[in-house]
Amino acid sequence: MIESTVRRACVTGGAGFIGSHLVDALRVRGIEVVVLDDLSSGQAENLTKHSDGLELIEGSVTESARCSAAVQGCDLVFHLASRVSVVESVEKPGLYRSICAGGTRQMLEAAENAGVRRLIHAGSCSVYGDAPPPISEDAPTSPTSPYAAAKLEAEEHCREFARGGRLETACPRFFNVYGPRQRADSPYAGVIAIFAAMAARGETPVIFGTGEQTRDFIHVADIVNGLLLAGIAGDVGGGQPINLGSGRATSILELTAFLGCGVPRHEPARQGENLHSSADPSLARRVLGFKSAVELEAGLQDPSLRHSGEG
Ligand SMILES: NC(=O)c1ccc[n+]([C@@H]2O[C@H](COP(=O)([O-])OP(=O)(O)OC[C@H]3O[C@@H](n4cnc5c(N)ncnc54)[C@H](O)[C@@H]3O)[C@@H](O)[C@H]2O)c1
Repeated sequence: MIESTVRRACVTGGAGFIGSHLVDALRVRGIEVVVLDDLSSGQAENLTKHSDGLELIEGSVTESARCSAAVQGCDLVFHLASRVSVVESVEKPGLYRSICAGGTRQMLEAAENAGVRRLIHAGSCSVYGDAPPPISEDAPTSPTSPYAAAKLEAEEHCREFARGGRLETACPRFFNVYGPRQRADSPYAGVIAIFAAMAARGETPVIFGTGEQTRDFIHVADIVNGLLLAGIAGDVGGGQPINLGSGRATSILELTAFLGCGVPRHEPARQGENLHSSADPSLARRVLGFKSAVELEAGLQDPSLRHSGEG
């Protein structure tokens, strides 16, 4: 149980979609939480239910003074702060490198200096490029966007600090995460948030290409569980990557059927889009004791998905 060894944790990006669910899970366990977030895509309202045991520091992971303030007295750092749009990263590669890679380095330095035990970095399956599924951690990395390249560079910083021996690091790589609070009105939104909001409005979903492309969708509750396990597992491999996916490939066409969308309209495939992606989740099971528990059909029934991004 994480609460028996962790009294205080820092969550960067804690006002965002995944981060705010992690904050909820930590507070339920009585763990004090410090959130460092610049609120560029996250929302302070995601945290308002916590009247005590939570401190929000508004600032960027690229500001070393804010990073140091956020990690004081913490046993763990969950580092989720990041820009998350592949498309935006092509327009602003320098911004992505400075936040994802540079910001991670700032957080590693701050955590090491403050005597934090472990930093857990939110990695992304996008680093695998178009590796054939099921994708294991041994698959060669081949980032196809500045976002993916910066996330990979961030992991390399994590491994370097682990080798230094003063800070443990863990590098879970998330596949396609969905669930409540994922914004459909943001240009970074996942396909489920967008389709669910469209289904609620009775709008026709737009699919780029045939819709036969597949993804590994994993519920945010499972990701939170994986992060908590990565916080307490005995040996997380010195920052070696660990896939967090369901191991199940679902096509975009199947997804529209599960969500009860109308007949989709097709547009030309987007250049550079990977056709198929799903995780080999066996390392996470061995190292963390992790297994995804929320079946996609059940996760998609949540009515709050259909309101994400409205208002
Ligand atoms: N959602 C997914 O499917 C997915 C998949 C793979 C990896 N990830 C990773 O998970 C993490 C969380 O993603 P999310 O889906 O919750 O996105 P999100 O946009 O909801 O959360 C990101 C949070 O980081 C904050 N942030 C951005 N730049 C910052 C900065 N410079 N300093 C401080 N805070 C900053 C944002 O305000 C936001 O609250 C990210 O690191 C992302 O790369 C997400």
